[in-house]
Amino acid sequence: MMFISFFSKVQNTDWYSDFLSPVVREINKGATVFDIGTGPARLLIRLREEKAAQCIGVDTSVSMIARAKKNVKEKDIQLIHIQKGKPYPFDDNSFDFVCLCNVLFLLSENVAEFILSEALRLTKPGGKILVLTPTGEKMPRKMGYNGVFNDFSLQFWHSSTKIAGKKWQLKGYLAEYCKKNKLDYVHQLVFHSLASIEIIQC
Ligand SMILES: C[S@@+](CC[C@H](N)C(=O)[O-])C[C@H]1O[C@@H](n2cnc3c(N)ncnc32)[C@H](O)[C@@H]1O
Repeated sequence: MMFISFFSKVQNTDWYSDFLSPVVREINKGATVFDIGTGPARLLIRLREEKAAQCIGVDTSVSMIARAKKNVKEKDIQLIHIQKGKPYPFDDNSFDFVCLCNVLFLLSENVAEFILSEALRLTKPGGKILVLTPTGEKMPRKMGYNGVFNDFSLQFWHSSTKIAGKKWQLKGYLAEYCKKNKLDYVHQLVFHSLASIEIIQC
């Protein structure tokens, strides 16, 4: 529970908001959004406030969903605890966007493949799957954020995601997956090259 409180606090920092911004920018006003591995739901709160999006978030952690529910307060955001490996309880082609921020690179290939097949099933034709992942690249000397907690939490995030992030980027797992399944795919470096956004056009 302590980690969840810490992570929820990290999500409120300026730098985490900048990290999530490339995903926010992709999403149209009033879109339907499904966020897999939503954690404390910071992305969905922004999408509700900034884009009037219709948001649903799922997570396999009961405590994360409890924290997310506290964070969203009375905002109209649906949060659901899901079981690992079980299909998500929504019809095919239900959402304009499916988001996976800071999630897929942490999981085994089997789990990632299951999640991707569900993401493809749920995304409407013409919709997009957005995958945000750390790159593990070297941090610029000055990132321009003020305050001790900003510095500490950014360093902590960078060092704790560096190895898995680099591995994900080197493997090119999504590029390969899209080639195999004949899907349009774009990879862009964002957030001072400390992250990538991968976009699958459905
Ligand atoms: C590092 S957090 C990222 C949270 C949020 N997406 C963000 O951008 O800050 C990863 C989240 O993925 C969740 N998770 C792990 N395995 C999952 C799975 N198989 N399906 C859905 N969520 C999962 C974890 O419980 C955790 O809340």
